[in-house]
Amino acid sequence: MNGTEYPNVTVIDHPLVQHKVSILRDVGTGAKEFRELVKELAMLMAYEATRDFQLAETTVTTPLAETTTSVLAGKKVAIIPILRAGLGMVEGILELLPAAKVGHVGLYRDPETLEPVEYYCKLPEDIRERDVLIVDPMLATGGSASAAIEFLKERGATDIKLLVIIAAPEGIAEVAESCDDVHIYTCAVDSHLNDHGYIVPGLGDAGDRLFGTR
Ligand code: PRP
Ligand code: URA
Repeated sequence: MNGTEYPNVTVIDHPLVQHKVSILRDVGTGAKEFRELVKELAMLMAYEATRDFQLAETTVTTPLAETTTSVLAGKKVAIIPILRAGLGMVEGILELLPAAKVGHVGLYRDPETLEPVEYYCKLPEDIRERDVLIVDPMLATGGSASAAIEFLKERGATDIKLLVIIAAPEGIAEVAESCDDVHIYTCAVDSHLNDHGYIVPGLGDAGDRLFGTR
C-alpha cells in the first residue's frame, strides 16, 4: 500500500525523510538550509530508488579470508534534473552514484495555462543504455514530468524512474496514467492543487526557495 490507487508509486515513509520534509516545508527555512535538505533528501530517495539494481557475485580477499560478495552489475545511470529546481537534487545523488552522467531538461510552467514549455534539452549520448532517474522536487499537475518522460522516451530511454520530493494527487494520476512503465518515488502525497497550480500544503515555489529568486 502506498496511499494511492497506483501500483507504481513508492511513498518513502522513513522517519529521517519525514523529519527533513517537515523542515523543508516550513516557511521560515532559509535558502541555505533548504538547499542542504533537498540534497540530503535526494540522496535518501536515490537509496530507495536503486533498491532493485542488479548485483553480480565477485570474490574479495579480506585481511582474514577470501570471500564471495556482491557488486553492482546492472546498467549505468543517468540523472536528469528538470530545470531549474531539479538541479538541487543532483549533487546528493552523485555522491551515491559518482559514475552517473547528468543530462538536463529545461522546462517551465506557463503561469496562465500551467502547460510545460521546453527551453533546453541536453542528454548523455548513450541515454538509451542507461537507467534514468528524472529528478524534480515538485510534481504538481504532472505536465512537466510527463513532458520530460516523453523527451527521454523519444531519445530511446526505456528504464525511467521519477523522483519527486512532494507530489499532488493530480500529478501522480497524470504520470501514472500516461506513463505506467515509470515508477514514481516521493516523500509525500499532499492534499490538492490550488487555483494557481501550487501544491497545498506543499512548500511553495521550489525553484525560488532553492535559488533565492523571490
Ligand atoms: C516547478 C517544479 C516542476 C513544475 C511542477 O518548476 O520544479 O518542474 O513546476 O509543476 P507541474 O507538475 O504542474 O508541471 P517551474 O515551472 O516553476 O520552474 P523552475 O524550476 O524554473 O522554478
Ligand atoms: N512548482 C512549485 O515549485 N511548487 C508547487 O507547489 C507547484 C509547482
